[in-house]
Amino acid sequence: MKNIDSYTHVRGESVYLDDIPLVNGTLYASVFDSPVAHGKIKSLDMTEAAGMPGVVRIFTAKDIPGQNQVGGIIADEELLADKHVHFCGMPVALVIATSDEAAKAAVKKIKVVIDPLPVITDPREAKEKGELIIPPRTFRLGDTENAWRACDLIIEGNTETNGQEHLYIETQGAYAVPQENGATRIYSSTQGPTAVQRTAARILNIPMSLIEVDTTRLGGGFGGKEDQATTWAMMCALASFHLKKPVKYCLHRMEDMRMTGKRHPYSADFKIGLNKDLKIIAYEVTFYQNAGAAADLSPAVMERTLFHCTNSYFVPHVKATAYSCRTHLPPNTAFRGFGGPQGMFVIEAAIAKAAEQLKIPASQIQQQNLLRSGDEFPYGQIAQSEANECWNKAAELYDVKKLQQEVNDFNAANKLYKKGLALMPICFGISFTKTHMNQARALVHVYNDGSVGVSTAGVEMGQGLNTKILQVAAATLSIDPSRVKINTTNTYRIANSSPTAASASSDLNGKATELACQAILQRLKQVAADAWKTKPEAVEIKDDWLYIDGKKTDWPWNELAWVAFEKRVSLTEHAHYAPPGIYFDNKKEKGHPFTYHVYGTAIITTTIDCLRGIYEIDSVKIVHDFGKSMNPIIDIGQCEGGLVQGIGWMTMEEIVYDKEGRLKSNALSTYKVPDIYSVPKEIAIHFLETEKENLAIFRSKAVGEPPLLYGIGAYFALRNAVTAFNPTASIPYDAPMTPEKVLMSLYATTPNEKSKAGQKSST
Ligand code: MTE
Ligand code: HPA
Ligand code: MOS
Repeated sequence: MKNIDSYTHVRGESVYLDDIPLVNGTLYASVFDSPVAHGKIKSLDMTEAAGMPGVVRIFTAKDIPGQNQVGGIIADEELLADKHVHFCGMPVALVIATSDEAAKAAVKKIKVVIDPLPVITDPREAKEKGELIIPPRTFRLGDTENAWRACDLIIEGNTETNGQEHLYIETQGAYAVPQENGATRIYSSTQGPTAVQRTAARILNIPMSLIEVDTTRLGGGFGGKEDQATTWAMMCALASFHLKKPVKYCLHRMEDMRMTGKRHPYSADFKIGLNKDLKIIAYEVTFYQNAGAAADLSPAVMERTLFHCTNSYFVPHVKATAYSCRTHLPPNTAFRGFGGPQGMFVIEAAIAKAAEQLKIPASQIQQQNLLRSGDEFPYGQIAQSEANECWNKAAELYDVKKLQQEVNDFNAANKLYKKGLALMPICFGISFTKTHMNQARALVHVYNDGSVGVSTAGVEMGQGLNTKILQVAAATLSIDPSRVKINTTNTYRIANSSPTAASASSDLNGKATELACQAILQRLKQVAADAWKTKPEAVEIKDDWLYIDGKKTDWPWNELAWVAFEKRVSLTEHAHYAPPGIYFDNKKEKGHPFTYHVYGTAIITTTIDCLRGIYEIDSVKIVHDFGKSMNPIIDIGQCEGGLVQGIGWMTMEEIVYDKEGRLKSNALSTYKVPDIYSVPKEIAIHFLETEKENLAIFRSKAVGEPPLLYGIGAYFALRNAVTAFNPTASIPYDAPMTPEKVLMSLYATTPNEKSKAGQKSST
């Protein structure tokens, strides 16, 4: 089935936040944000701004009736800076005017004087100064202390991975419309409508029941709207609460890039030990997460880094520690992979470094250590692994030996162009790492004309969730998909929802939809059995029609719906789903946090231009564990999109803050994302069809985040191409591998002096 949104997308008819028809009298918001990363506010002069044409009012922290607090996990983030600012881009004042232009013009006239305080941008420096968001955590398996003795090779090193701008095409935005009796409706481009509702209640000091949050769809979220959509919804809600007028705010691209957090940059130290058979015996790693100025989702992201620190490998002795470090950058947040990619990069770097030392391809070490079913993850869960299946299938299907030979031949024959090849096995756990978040609800109405309305907690953001939910409803009721309508995500219909995240939305909301449809189906079968004087077991609803004892009757589906209505039988069900069997003990750091894992293997080949440092990704050949895909078109789209986003993170997207914490890469002219010219020239995706029992909806495994991890392979393929040209190059494990870095390493003889990672790996 095609994505149900494709028709309105291509015609420009899909409704995003900025397309919602406006109510008369709508006002516009714009935020004045801190020009300084850390300091004490001495004075704030808004007189000139307040006198600008069209300005209605300017709000500050003093105008917040409830708590000035938007922190989700930890209450450590003010909506509007009260006395101190903690990052460049922190909201200080909120201008409301009769037009967007008037609000923007007034913002420019606000004057602030800030007594500067010391600025930290580096996570290791923050850790040294004791600036931690939460206490460090350590995951342990076996006994690394004693295991080093059994190792024949021990390698140490360090790595850096940079952040990543979400660059959803639709920027952050919200629109608050006052309702009667003190209630507010907030349209929000958010992955987490309940988070918006909860926080609005806290800011306005009113009950959650007075706040309706409604979301039609997002023009992309990628994690950037899991938590950080809330702030902009609060700005609108606050102003609309005081002024009793509708208030809208759609961020301009540069505001969005400057004021919102990104993927967490990480710095890490590793030590890896192997025996003669290339088995990884022990692995120790310490992560320094750059959390930014407030917690946001950093503790949860840090947790997933630990969960994924051994990627797709079994390592019997592991010690992994993570620090969430407070710096003066915008609070970093969820981004596709949610800390997992940052953890996996480090073990891939450790393997690559060991392979370099042993003068063998890294793939020999990778293959030797792939997880098998029955192996234990460092957090205690026992693997049901598809790692070897994916790897072996990829090696055979794409003839990896031949591919490697082609690369070697090319490199022997060419001086100024070199090719590199890398394999990237992946493993990603499906479930929110916080067990209680794994729940969802669906509300299904069968109308008495036979049409069906479905509401769930899930938010459509381009990933095809609504199409999959529609498939679940149509298949479970066995009716034509055209009868089913998926409604907006709305907190008055579905309450207390988790954000649409963790790749788990189709599973959680799909299962809830399935349960609701099954319950209605049961009642309809009873109605039919009564009418046809038979037992419910004799009744079947198939392809829009009623069958009794296997024989087609003259009742179409809509007749059955009408009869049920006449018999006063409920045609509505609200179902709740919580996946069974998951738990985690935070004291022991052990448990079974994931319902299942997704596996896969990619083979990536690249060509670099050794005069200019520029490169192309020639091909990415993937075997991916989809389970039994319920929608191959959507799942291939997710695979390709995730892959390209991962390649962007690892190769070209470079976030730059200066020492004062100001974002230098603050527009699309200074921040390069993959475009049609930089995507791989060839992408092949093979479906590993696994029929094993799993807890995915219709056995179709979650697909949203895992493919991003394949992008890590592009980094190592580029490294391999560089070393084909310059075998003595000592290249720091410092992603992204931009063309500039490729060029420098092509001609480097000593480690790059300026890079911290380079300095340490030379010792
Ligand atoms: N695909 C598109 N087109 N747009 C998005 O914003 N977000 C990704 C992924 N795929 C995203 C996307 C992220 S971060 C997640 S967690 C999942 O979709 C969420 O949706 P799912 O749970 O339905 O897979
Ligand atoms: N993944 C994505 N988002 C989340 C998670 C997670 O594991 N936990 C909390 N928010
Ligand atoms: Mo995705 S990072 O879990 O929104």
